[in-house]
Amino acid sequence: MVEFFINDQPVQAEDNQTVMQAARANGYFIPYFCWHPQLSVPGNCRICMVEVTNEGQAAGSGWLDIACNMPITKGMRVLTDSEKVRSRRKETLQFITLNHPVDCGICDKAGECTLQDYHYEYNGSPSISREPKVHASKHYKLSERIVLDNERCIMCTRCVRFTREISKSDALGVLNRGDHSLIRPVEDGRFEHDAYSDNVIDICPVGALLSTQFLHKARVWYLQPTASVCPGCERGCTVNIWHRKSEWKLKALDARQNARIDRVTPLENPAVNGPWICNKGRDLAQILGRARADQAMLKGRPVDLPTALASARALIGAARRPVALVSNWGSNEELAAYQQALGGRFTSFVKTDWQPAPGEPVEDGLLIKADKNPNTAAARALFPPLPADAGSAFPADTDLVLVWGEGYSFAQLPPRAKIIYLNSWLQPENGHADVFLPISVMTERRGHYTNFEGTVSAFEPCFASAPGVAHAQDLFAALATRAMAVST
Ligand code: SF4
Ligand code: SF4
Ligand code: FES
Repeated sequence: MVEFFINDQPVQAEDNQTVMQAARANGYFIPYFCWHPQLSVPGNCRICMVEVTNEGQAAGSGWLDIACNMPITKGMRVLTDSEKVRSRRKETLQFITLNHPVDCGICDKAGECTLQDYHYEYNGSPSISREPKVHASKHYKLSERIVLDNERCIMCTRCVRFTREISKSDALGVLNRGDHSLIRPVEDGRFEHDAYSDNVIDICPVGALLSTQFLHKARVWYLQPTASVCPGCERGCTVNIWHRKSEWKLKALDARQNARIDRVTPLENPAVNGPWICNKGRDLAQILGRARADQAMLKGRPVDLPTALASARALIGAARRPVALVSNWGSNEELAAYQQALGGRFTSFVKTDWQPAPGEPVEDGLLIKADKNPNTAAARALFPPLPADAGSAFPADTDLVLVWGEGYSFAQLPPRAKIIYLNSWLQPENGHADVFLPISVMTERRGHYTNFEGTVSAFEPCFASAPGVAHAQDLFAALATRAMAVST
């Protein structure tokens, strides 16, 4: 450890740390644009200037240097917020905004933009330039997912370094020099295929890189993030699901906007995904926003939930050889509830709810895993996997199958067996089941998933379930009451 001084206070730093790293580790704030804790250090934006003084030297008589690339030395004295530092930051911001359009009113980044924040903290003045701003391309399409506003770009090169150092696609670069510099994709289209491309939207410190899905859809202050887990593969990345705040509920326009996923962003978790997620995680609305089933049925005939439950209980009570296919999208709590309530009554196997979709990246060395289900590890800790050969799973006298979740064709079930089906989505199989019970999805309840490395992550509810939809955990308890009574 090395002792040095920040704002005249002694602090400890690791050997080889920079002033930026040591200051952050000790709770001191230094602004930055181009620096990112997971990327190399280009030192190009100069906003992180600090003043370095000798012992006994007054503030204002030291020298200025960038904190992000300055190694700590023993006894060093750093001032992070002196008059000299604030004056240089103001000059730096005046330079950076010479050609920036300052169109915050229509910019998706407004409310989350560090340039906006630093401008109010350190500058606050209109542009000092008498020259007209240099205009550049607006809405330049980098890929189907991302558009670039070159006028807003401050050339921090974070996006370029991300594709070189993290996603390894080498898909972005800087074209031309000086105030003609432009971020451009490599012309072979590889940015389109970068499975992590949307992370550049998050790390762009300004509103230059924008999601086409989210563009002009909502101001961020109308939205709230709810901590959740991506169910897209067994990595189980920690994410924030953004949805409309209840106080900003729309009353006149399409009310479905009040209960939809507006965007998904990473929630930094060093134990699982660091600060990144893949593009599939961004697209959770496509998985969780599918048409929902909210009507219990008996062979396709709509009934209320208590009637459907009574029929399911009767089937369970009468069955001689019941088999269950357990969902690997069920939460730890639901799996435990199933095991406690029905695990002793059914021969249970874990099925695979989701297979890789055509064209989907199957696995890589960064985050994406081949198993496209969130809770296989926890499910298989309780029950064996479903054998590939259906004959081994279903003995000839199987007379009842409980299917929990999607992904298993009814055509593979024993033809004479009765079927109890628990599912969340509007699918043709629902009407073919003897008893169909609509269940909630993860954005409507609280729970935990265990990823392939054994890390347990929590998810929280974002929306209320529709009337007629039940939580699987409650259904298992309700089904057990009578089933046990019948079997004793
Ligand atoms: S587009 Fe954003 S991340 Fe990329 S260089 Fe410009 S400001 Fe930086
Ligand atoms: S790596 Fe897997 S868990 Fe993480 S965001 Fe992508 S699909 Fe979701
Ligand atoms: S953050 Fe240090 S130069 Fe950009």
